[in-house]
Amino acid sequence: MTGSAGKLRALDGYVADSCYPSQFHQSFQPSWTDWNLERRGLAAPRTGRKPFKLVDLGCGDAHGLLLTAASHPEGQFVGIDAAPEHIARGHELAVAAGLTNVELRCADFRRARHFADESADYVTAQGVLAWVSPQNRSRLLDLAARWLRPGGAFTLGYNACPGWGRLAPFQKLVHALAQSASGTSSQRFTAALNRIRGDGMLPSEFWEWFDAQTDRHPPEYLAHEYLNDHWNPCWSSDVVSGMVQRGFAYVGQAIAVRLREDLYLKPEWRQTLATIGDSPTRELATDLLADTWYRHDIYVKSPTAPGPALHALTHRWWTLAASPEDIEYRMTTPAGDISFDSEAARSIVRWLGQGPGQLSAISGFAAADLLNSIDAMYMAGFAIPADPPGDPATATRFNAVLTARGRPVNAVASAHGAITAYRRGS
Ligand SMILES: C[S@@+](CC[C@H](N)C(=O)[O-])C[C@H]1O[C@@H](n2cnc3c(N)ncnc32)[C@H](O)[C@@H]1O
Repeated sequence: MTGSAGKLRALDGYVADSCYPSQFHQSFQPSWTDWNLERRGLAAPRTGRKPFKLVDLGCGDAHGLLLTAASHPEGQFVGIDAAPEHIARGHELAVAAGLTNVELRCADFRRARHFADESADYVTAQGVLAWVSPQNRSRLLDLAARWLRPGGAFTLGYNACPGWGRLAPFQKLVHALAQSASGTSSQRFTAALNRIRGDGMLPSEFWEWFDAQTDRHPPEYLAHEYLNDHWNPCWSSDVVSGMVQRGFAYVGQAIAVRLREDLYLKPEWRQTLATIGDSPTRELATDLLADTWYRHDIYVKSPTAPGPALHALTHRWWTLAASPEDIEYRMTTPAGDISFDSEAARSIVRWLGQGPGQLSAISGFAAADLLNSIDAMYMAGFAIPADPPGDPATATRFNAVLTARGRPVNAVASAHGAITAYRRGS
């Protein structure tokens, strides 16, 4: 796929000689999006287990999308990716698991516009925007606008500034040195990295940070992260204003810890932010104050209706992300150390410790207290928004296929939605 000299095989400058590691992203699940919208007073694209359509743009090998599809037999799923190897891998798994509600299409964002038909309730795109050319960024955002129906939600995940911007000197250097190295993208990356390290081109603090990152990621990830020609972490103000121009309303962050500004931002920051009227500038200022690295923006296309009343939110379903004895009733956010140890929180843990459930089944607490506690548990990573129970047959079959393959992806399918596996210890 690669020669010993010359350019790497690429899609408009995006590394294409290796598959991106199989990934599942909890915060792109429909129940997660619905919770985030309803908690902010907006209508979710669906209620309960109604049929819906979800389109994933730049789906990689689609293993994450297939987990979602296996957990939602009532849904219809479309995955788009320009790399034939990604689509072939996903297709093979879909066939092996007998999934009939997924369509995987090998197409770039320019060609995919021909399929986009305002039929989707959800569009997702994780880890694409900051790694593709300016033209493809524009095409990606246009596609979300063309594919969603009014009232539909778009979750867009990307590497953000100022955090990732600090790595620009390293990325430029490793990318440039890799051009003259030989072999696959991973081999070229390693050769360039070794040269930078061996020649002492960067300070020791950089290597401490970098080596800790590297340990967490499979090797193919690093080539995809650093060798794309158009690597360019995004400023949120550019992205938010681009979406507003396309007819979307910015809703907030799907990154859990950013749900509640009173628990995430220092009071003096909130005072400053309250003086900024437009959402692109406000998001930019928030990112600078909180030193943001990643963003998972949620947008709604032409918002149509208000969400349910506060007390109705207690009917939403939840699952624990850890076993009850591992739950700490505290978290640290940029606002400081926050404790949420209360009777309401402990009752929620006791209840959900028996399995996925609704907060409305817990008696003796006001809706506001239950919601306050679940907000904090969700922000701390201990509670995951779930769906009402569905037919478990496809999820069970899918999990059996994944188990037989040595669990190539970090989640399990379930009758309550797909759930990150490491969180559940399974
Ligand atoms: C970093 S991967 C993310 C995969 C997946 N969304 C995830 O988060 O695990 C980016 C994906 O975008 C795809 N991609 C890059 N440029 C593209 C383009 N112009 N059109 C369609 N897909 C593209 C790549 O093939 C790759 O699978």
